[in-house]
Amino acid sequence: MVAVAILAAGRGTRMKSNLPKVLHSLGGRSLIERVFQSCQSINPSRRIAIVGYEAQQVKNALQSLQNVEFVEQAQQLGTGHAIQQLIPSLEGFRGTLLVLNGDLPLLRPSTLEKMLSVHETHHNAATILTAQLPNPQGYGRVFCDGNNLVGQIVEDRDCTDAQRHNHRINAGAYCFDWQKLAEVLPQLSADNDQKEYYLTDVFRSLHPVMAVDADDYQEIMGINDRAQLATAYEILQTRVKDAWMTAGVTLINPDSITIDDTVELATDTIIEPQTHLRGNTKIASGCRIGPGSLIENSQIGHQTTVLYSVVLNSSIAAGTQIGPYTHLRGNIQVGEACRIGNFVELKNTTVGDGTKISHLSYIGDTTLGDRVNIGAGTITANYDGVNKHPTHIGNGSKTGANSVLVAPVTLGESVNVAAGSVVTEDVGDDALVIARSRQVVKPGWRLKSIAE
Ligand code: UD1
Ligand code: MG
Repeated sequence: MVAVAILAAGRGTRMKSNLPKVLHSLGGRSLIERVFQSCQSINPSRRIAIVGYEAQQVKNALQSLQNVEFVEQAQQLGTGHAIQQLIPSLEGFRGTLLVLNGDLPLLRPSTLEKMLSVHETHHNAATILTAQLPNPQGYGRVFCDGNNLVGQIVEDRDCTDAQRHNHRINAGAYCFDWQKLAEVLPQLSADNDQKEYYLTDVFRSLHPVMAVDADDYQEIMGINDRAQLATAYEILQTRVKDAWMTAGVTLINPDSITIDDTVELATDTIIEPQTHLRGNTKIASGCRIGPGSLIENSQIGHQTTVLYSVVLNSSIAAGTQIGPYTHLRGNIQVGEACRIGNFVELKNTTVGDGTKISHLSYIGDTTLGDRVNIGAGTITANYDGVNKHPTHIGNGSKTGANSVLVAPVTLGESVNVAAGSVVTEDVGDDALVIARSRQVVKPGWRLKSIAE
């Protein structure tokens, strides 16, 4: 049986932030969410977060994760003290306790699986995830014999100069035989540079303790400050982008592109420079996205292009052209083979197949049928200063340039709106509506006014 405990009570002083460190976002997900995610495949029987600094905020942030228990560490007296707080809630628990620092967001599930398997195969009292770092500064150093059996861990600040030359570091992920750990936990003392109760001191009293190296040392990066957060983002981005290129997606100038690891792409899609794909976004095959686009929580059908545009919470079907300079800002459904062009803003709107809104329009709270042609500068006046109102435009209708449709208003099918109209009343199928004052021409007017 495996229980997981994640250390998340610290403030993270080095972040210089009011937000608890574990809630800082890395590529759209908090550090602690990522840590929970990394141990999902182990399928632990219990998942515990040890919270303290801004505990309620951390609990709220984890609400969407199911079956997480919270244990409070009222005062943050060190990682060992944090684990001591588990003793009452794990009373009677037998099996492996997997302990993960809450600031370890890049761990791969396979690495934890490997550590757990070594731990169980060797019946260790504890197993420590380690790595050989080119620059081990700031990490606890792990001292082992030739068989990976651990003698002790010494924190960076407590190391002698000679000990600092050891590049094998403690990742902050451990398996423990809980019953053995529970016996030695009360013996911890705070006799060190930080005057804290270090979890890493328990290894002096447990036997046997084995170290397991992570295959990729970048995985074990702990986030203590903003520079490390930025480095972790780079590492994550490289991982995500390499995976998509391997899967058949072209990235042009990948360094200028960012892709959340929640995004899904399909083969033969091309992502152009300065494009950012975020959240729950899915892009089908053969699309061309960018340059210069932001797409968030949106689904895009195959063979669609998005050029220099912002697409938020939208769903766009196949073969449609978006941009340049389109803003789709939420709850948008665009059909197949549409064209949404420059300086067009859509909000809470459904667009039927083959419809065109090519230039300079604001369309809000509207349903557009199939094959509608929205003339340049058409505006739906959807807000009366208090409430929003809907506009409906039927299949095959056409608005002339600079029309204003004052909502609530419905145009039937195959309606023609004359240019410059302000339409305030519903219009039936097949009608022409002209809602503007008739042109008046006064011939020779200038000459007459001179004569007077
Ligand atoms: C810790 C390890 C160090 C290791 C490094 C890996 C200790 C003593 N040191 O150092 O050997 O190389 O991680 O990244 O464990 N926390 C609490 N309660 C506390 C203090 C901390 O819950 O009282 C939590 C923090 O929120 C954080 C985690 O424990 O998620 C680690 O704390 P941090 O201060 O980052 O430890 P490091 O100095 O990085
Ligand atoms: Mg840390």
